[in-house]
Amino acid sequence: SGDSTLSITVVGASGDLAKKKIFPALFALYYEDFLPKNFIVYGHARTKLTDEELRDTVSRTLTCRIDKRVIRATNCRENCENKMEEFLKRCFYHSGQYNSEEDFEELDKKLKEKEAGKLAHRLFYLSIPPNLFVDVVKCASLKASSESGWTRVIVEKPFGRDSESSGELTRSLKQYLAEDQIFRIDHYLGKELVENLSVLRFSNLVFEPLWSRNYIRNVQLIFSEDFGTEGRGGYFDNYGIIRDIMQNHLLQILALFAMETPVSLDAEDVRNEKVKVLRSMRPLQLEDVVVGQYKGHSKGSKLYPAYTDDPTVPNGSLTPTFAAAALFIDNARWDGVPFLMKAGKALHTRRAEIRVQFRHVPGNLYKRNFGTDLDKATNELVLRVQPDEAVYLKINNKVPGLGMRLDRSDLNLLYRARYTREIPDAYERLLLDAVEGERRLFIRSDELDAAWSLFTPLLKELEDKKIGPELYPYGSRGPVGAHYLAAKYNVRWGDLGSED
Ligand code: BG6
Repeated sequence: SGDSTLSITVVGASGDLAKKKIFPALFALYYEDFLPKNFIVYGHARTKLTDEELRDTVSRTLTCRIDKRVIRATNCRENCENKMEEFLKRCFYHSGQYNSEEDFEELDKKLKEKEAGKLAHRLFYLSIPPNLFVDVVKCASLKASSESGWTRVIVEKPFGRDSESSGELTRSLKQYLAEDQIFRIDHYLGKELVENLSVLRFSNLVFEPLWSRNYIRNVQLIFSEDFGTEGRGGYFDNYGIIRDIMQNHLLQILALFAMETPVSLDAEDVRNEKVKVLRSMRPLQLEDVVVGQYKGHSKGSKLYPAYTDDPTVPNGSLTPTFAAAALFIDNARWDGVPFLMKAGKALHTRRAEIRVQFRHVPGNLYKRNFGTDLDKATNELVLRVQPDEAVYLKINNKVPGLGMRLDRSDLNLLYRARYTREIPDAYERLLLDAVEGERRLFIRSDELDAAWSLFTPLLKELEDKKIGPELYPYGSRGPVGAHYLAAKYNVRWGDLGSED
């Protein structure tokens, strides 16, 4: 309301995430009029900067151009330069240590001055390495919490590296914050197509009745990137692809995909259902996992580095940059249905998608039109999360003409053809939700525990047994082990078909 103020403090303002995602998302929200009338943004970091210097850095990361995905009459935001000026005027900088209560006291003073006695809400975004989380939360909560309004803290993964360290982190944070003040981000939950998953299921008659072992043969959750760790090897080597992508992004999608209908769309109702899925998962077996690591490779005159060529990666590292896994949910709805996950860096393409392969049509009258390969005749529903957002359903239809030839076609909802408006970045939605206190897309601590309980024993076993990753060339389709794993469950990866 007009009488309250919102102060957003970006802790670690000079870091990569802040520059690439947080400030641009805040600006987009401001541009679209989603932020309250009275708001300010404080950058907080150790480097000494003036307000002007912060504005200068931030201004370089903001853009008046709309993302490439968008097809619009103009591809520039209108009146953007002015808006940007206005936004930058509301950005300030405070330099301080992350573990100094005095420095946060000083920040508090500066915030109070700007808040001018109004009802003040404070949001802290921790864009810092995890080893600093607890220090910052301690100082911020003791010295810079709002006295009149709410105080919320957004944190990003990694939330520990196994059940134990994650539990420890949660306990430490909860010394200073209540659970409902902690907003744990999984930015995949802010992606448009992931949001759309529930809409598709629960607002159409034609999907939900099929959403079970009775009609679904397997589900595939696929993440691939066409670049390697490039400079992030130092962080990555301590985590690996299973912790970086599977335990969070892909598992979150799986939970949303497989959950029962929640009582309502309220955060607690939705998260209750997700936790149930996670707790129903069968423990992961080593035999159901394939790990890989990319190796160097040259194509023409271009040389692609191996993971271990990254100077920040220790020689001989066994950290996986690729993993595939078969998971099972031991409940009535999903008994026996393989959920296959695949995640990798330095593959041939950048893509994230959910693929649902349906069962064969019993007693198919057109069987002979498909030859011996009935798999080719099954329906497949694909949600392409990125790039080029789409939902499509593969169906069989007759080729027009007097003969009887069948064909595969897509019923296709291609977002860029259907919608001219821009698809917001995940961080825009999540920041807005945090400001509005909407917790549905944030990870509750029991969800986090359940996710770690699933992966921790596997990770320990991989590490204790020093399982060597299967090497695959940079830019390839990943290790062949992933095919054998899928074949074991009679599955063919849908993203490798000729049509895709
Ligand atoms: C992050 C991972 O969580 O997600 C990165 O740490 C990965 O390794 C990134 O590159 C992918 O996010 P997006 O939104 O670019 O698909």
